[in-house]
Amino acid sequence: MKAIVTGAAGFIGSTIVDKFISEGFDTIAVDNLSAGLKDNVNPKATFVELDIRDFSGLRQIATDCDYFIHCAAAMPIVRPPFEDTVEHEEINVIGTMQCLKALEGSSVKKFLYASSCATYGQSKNLPITEGEAVDLLSRPYTIQKFCGEQFSLLLGQRYGIPVVSLRLFANYGPRSLQNTKTANTYSPVIGIFLQQKLDKRPLTITGDGSQSRDFINVEDTARIFYEVALSEEIKDDIFNVCSGRRITIQELANIISPDQTYIERTYGEVEHIHGDNSKLRKFGISPKITLEEGIANLEEYLESVR
Ligand SMILES: NC(=O)c1ccc[n+]([C@@H]2O[C@H](COP(=O)([O-])OP(=O)(O)OC[C@H]3O[C@@H](n4cnc5c(N)ncnc54)[C@H](O)[C@@H]3O)[C@@H](O)[C@H]2O)c1
Repeated sequence: MKAIVTGAAGFIGSTIVDKFISEGFDTIAVDNLSAGLKDNVNPKATFVELDIRDFSGLRQIATDCDYFIHCAAAMPIVRPPFEDTVEHEEINVIGTMQCLKALEGSSVKKFLYASSCATYGQSKNLPITEGEAVDLLSRPYTIQKFCGEQFSLLLGQRYGIPVVSLRLFANYGPRSLQNTKTANTYSPVIGIFLQQKLDKRPLTITGDGSQSRDFINVEDTARIFYEVALSEEIKDDIFNVCSGRRITIQELANIISPDQTYIERTYGEVEHIHGDNSKLRKFGISPKITLEEGIANLEEYLESVR
């Protein structure tokens, strides 16, 4: 069986590559290395340095693929939020369409799209279900991710390819901190706090710390991608991928260290994010790693690479 993962040198894509390799898949890891690091890619994968806007390149590798996992995306920096937007639209919208088009006529079993909880913006209803209205006016990235998702579903129908969009909530884990080339929109606060603790510096809490998030461990996310890919029942649908647990940044800081300081709130930050994962749970698919376990594992990892 063959899987293709785009954005495979990035944080989440590289962890998904590891999962498919561990399950015995021939895995092709696609990335243009604009933000990701080649060292993140499992050496057992076949690495192809390719930009997803290169249609003929995609077509060449996509012919006999069983599962196509699309994680490549240009990630915005939070401040200012409109920087690089035209190129980002080319990558996040047109690039996504090219991926589907490259699979036209192939026998691919499923296309998985890494969507985002950012499409909900500041939802009035918490926890957020997949039926919640999208809030497209918040940022260009939000529009791009939603368009990528909707085009994936539409083109999937047109080409007879089962498509599943997974709306990811805030992921944390080792490689989120190794993205040295761009500042990504999902500032990995757990990693930042742990690094500050290990450096014996105070944790920098933005605002008053009352804002809340729903964190999911990237290992859980990678396994969920794998299980959704192989599920015979799941297709042509949208699912939240979240822990279902809401925690304030203050509570998070308290788990990590009492040495804390307060800094200015980040521009454009959403106040509260809390997902409902019951739709995916109905298929027996759910996260397993508690926040406390995940934080302890990440701390151990960060200590080991110091
Ligand atoms: N990290 C999160 O918490 C989170 C939350 C919601 C959604 N997502 C989505 O998950 C996906 C992966 O996010 P991540 O955190 O791993 O980001 P990341 O920046 O670590 O990885 C993205 C990868 O895509 C590659 N890439 C960018 N443009 C490309 C192009 N034109 N051609 C080929 N490769 C290209 C980059 O080099 C990078 O390796 C993205 O689609 C993102 O929108 C992430």
